[in-house]
Amino acid sequence: MVCDSGNSGNSDGMASQDSSWGSMRQTLGVDAFRITGGKPLLGEVRVSGAKNSVLKLMALSLLTQGRTQITSVPDILDVSIMSRLVTRLGARVEWERAEGILSIDVPEELEQRADYDLVRQMRASISVLGPLIARLGVADIALPGGDAIGSRGLDMHLAGLERMGAKVTSQHGYLLASAPERLKGASIWLDFPSVGATETLLMASVLAEGTTIIDNAAREPEIVDISHMLQEMGAQIDGVGTSTLIVDGVDELRPVTHETVSDRIVAGTWAVAAAMTCGDVSVRNANPHHLDIALDKLASAGAEVTHLPDGFRVRMEDRPRAVGIVTLPYPGFATDLQPQFIAMNAIAYGTAMVTENLFESRFKFVNELVRLGADVRTEAHHAIITGRESLSGAPVESHDIRAGASLVLAGLAAQGITTVTHVNHIDRGYANFVPDLQSLGADIERVSIVDPARVSG
Ligand code: EPU
Repeated sequence: MVCDSGNSGNSDGMASQDSSWGSMRQTLGVDAFRITGGKPLLGEVRVSGAKNSVLKLMALSLLTQGRTQITSVPDILDVSIMSRLVTRLGARVEWERAEGILSIDVPEELEQRADYDLVRQMRASISVLGPLIARLGVADIALPGGDAIGSRGLDMHLAGLERMGAKVTSQHGYLLASAPERLKGASIWLDFPSVGATETLLMASVLAEGTTIIDNAAREPEIVDISHMLQEMGAQIDGVGTSTLIVDGVDELRPVTHETVSDRIVAGTWAVAAAMTCGDVSVRNANPHHLDIALDKLASAGAEVTHLPDGFRVRMEDRPRAVGIVTLPYPGFATDLQPQFIAMNAIAYGTAMVTENLFESRFKFVNELVRLGADVRTEAHHAIITGRESLSGAPVESHDIRAGASLVLAGLAAQGITTVTHVNHIDRGYANFVPDLQSLGADIERVSIVDPARVSG
């Protein structure tokens, strides 16, 4: 435990791992993060735009011909994949990575097909469905399939489009959607406030004929951001930020320049990292109100949380206390911060229950956390975590973005060396992760290994 160990972090076992590491390290293969735990994170870090907004902002740029500019774009793998997808659909993309500016030139004619090779790499590719059917009256999108955190259905996206007059079938692994007569406004009630379905229907309805009402809509800050960009483009949307979105379709939209909302999940990850390492971190360019519940939970765990003019600061002096959480759609506790809180509970005083209500496989990473010595039992969608005084470094594997980040946090708080493999998952959502951690004082480096199965502790 960082807080109790005088922050030295080194153990005997670690030294032997260290010496064997050199011979294992190769120049080809799977990227891994090698972390020597035990240092408090101190200093400040700046958060970029939100992955779960920018990918949709890129997709919705297809709704209009001309040059759209998106700023505060994070340098992450998913933005590269989405750039390839919109390029494949006919747009021209320029990305000034260092400046975080993405320009998308959209021609009059677009392709209608999103191929499996890209969709399988990133489920968010489905967000081109709404813009394509709205603009072209037709879209062929490869079915994304399940992923590491659950099956992730599309039924609400498709039922909503059908209510707007689209015909949707599936053939040879593709969704074929068509609405040659232009989509028609409709009243749609979502069974659940799905982020993806709300976005698909919002992007489809802005160019539809007449009024669309989306009830039980998702209210995440990223949906508000998408709605704001659509409004800037000329869309008529009422009820932004509420559960009822009322969209009056317009004939055309215009390209704009839009700044991406800051990434609340990245900001929340830094907040938990500060608390887990007994650190003191100021998170800049973050909106603490997008993290009200999470920051309140950190305060219950013993952290001192203060708001700053452009973010917040988290300071922890002692080992955290265990805190229970229940994930829910926004403004409830974000599922994308659930693994980080499980990691924190793994080193906390006491026992806590975490309930996951959105993704059935989001506890999969717990097996990796157990390899670090965590005491976690799962039963259906509940996890019971009893904090241990310390975790001990070991090789672990990242299965998805948030699980990977949480294993890194656990490694930062553990004694000895932790190697997290398959960090391409973390690269999908965290820009500048290793340099930012290094600047906060973490002992972490990126390495390449040929055969992650052979990384031994
Ligand atoms: N669902 C259905 N049918 C649908 C739509 C959703 O059954 O038609 C189910 C899903 O299977 C899932 C639940 O509803 O169990 C939630 O799905 P939702 O549509 O709300 O989420 P999403 O659009 O697939 C986005 C984020 C996720 C984030 C969730 C919830 C993107 C690219 N992804 O997913 O982010 O966890 O909203 O906030 O925006 C991440 O960033 O790590 C991540 C997984």
